[in-house]
Amino acid sequence: MIQQSERFTDHVALMSEQGKQNKDIAITMEKCSLSFGDVKVLNNVSLTIYKDEFLSILGPSGCGKSTLLRLMLGLLPPDKGGVISLDSTKESLGMVFQKPVLMPWMTALQNIEMPLNLGTEKKLNKKIRREKAENALQLVGLYDFKNHYPHQLSGGMQQRVAIARALAAEPTILLMDEPFGALDEFTREKLNFELLRLWESPDNGLSTVVMVTHSIQESVIMSDRIAMMSSRPAGVEEMIDVPLPRPREVGMEEHPGFFKTVKELRRKVKQQ
Ligand SMILES: Nc1ncnc2c1ncn2[C@@H]1O[C@H](COP(=O)(O)OP(=O)(O)O)[C@@H](O)[C@H]1O
Ligand SMILES: [Mg+2]
Repeated sequence: MIQQSERFTDHVALMSEQGKQNKDIAITMEKCSLSFGDVKVLNNVSLTIYKDEFLSILGPSGCGKSTLLRLMLGLLPPDKGGVISLDSTKESLGMVFQKPVLMPWMTALQNIEMPLNLGTEKKLNKKIRREKAENALQLVGLYDFKNHYPHQLSGGMQQRVAIARALAAEPTILLMDEPFGALDEFTREKLNFELLRLWESPDNGLSTVVMVTHSIQESVIMSDRIAMMSSRPAGVEEMIDVPLPRPREVGMEEHPGFFKTVKELRRKVKQQ
């Protein structure tokens, strides 16, 4: 199981203060390894992700972060001996991939509507699908571009459509692979906080977010905990608790807990 840091109990206290007392488990990974041919990518990864938590995954490029999310999503099985558990009667997974993968012949709106009926027994009628897709586009600030095709949108806008597509399906667990990497600083910060407001809102079922990012600052401002991965063959080297109160607000970068955690993470990155 994960090595919880010494400050874990403080973090629990902090979470209680914030009313986030839920320590139910959303996803468990136990002793998961994965090799592509002779190349061992993941080495004995054990990780517990709790309901109602925002967890970021940081690690050097090529270490296996995207592979780890693919395992959680069930797109890849772990090597023999590894176990991934998730209560599929209660949880549904949404995924934002590192590249937006939109259908080029469909408009932004159609790209979001199309998968809403996939993998579900109960088909949604067209009006409800349209409503969900339009709401999601509104959320990422692209409502006015709903009839645009992917080639008419910038890379960052395409990524926002992909985020809207994942949100429209109303998952309880959202996995995101460097979702804001292609965005400029202004849009990135705006979307960071919009995602946080959505996750905090009691009106929707999204309870858990697992986000891969290469930005130390972004991981600190967004997360409850940060899983720091080692270089390949990667394992979870350390879990870091973020000592910042919620709700997170613009300007919290001035908080001493922000500086302290960023500094701690920078030191660990240098040691790798
Ligand atoms: N389908 C695949 N087949 C073979 N090797 C792969 C495949 N997917 C990823 N890899 C390799 O696994 C390693 C980890 O990849 P990835 O999970 O994409 O890293 P990260 O997301 O941390 O940058 C890399 O060395 C990559 O080349
Ligand atoms: Mg990746």
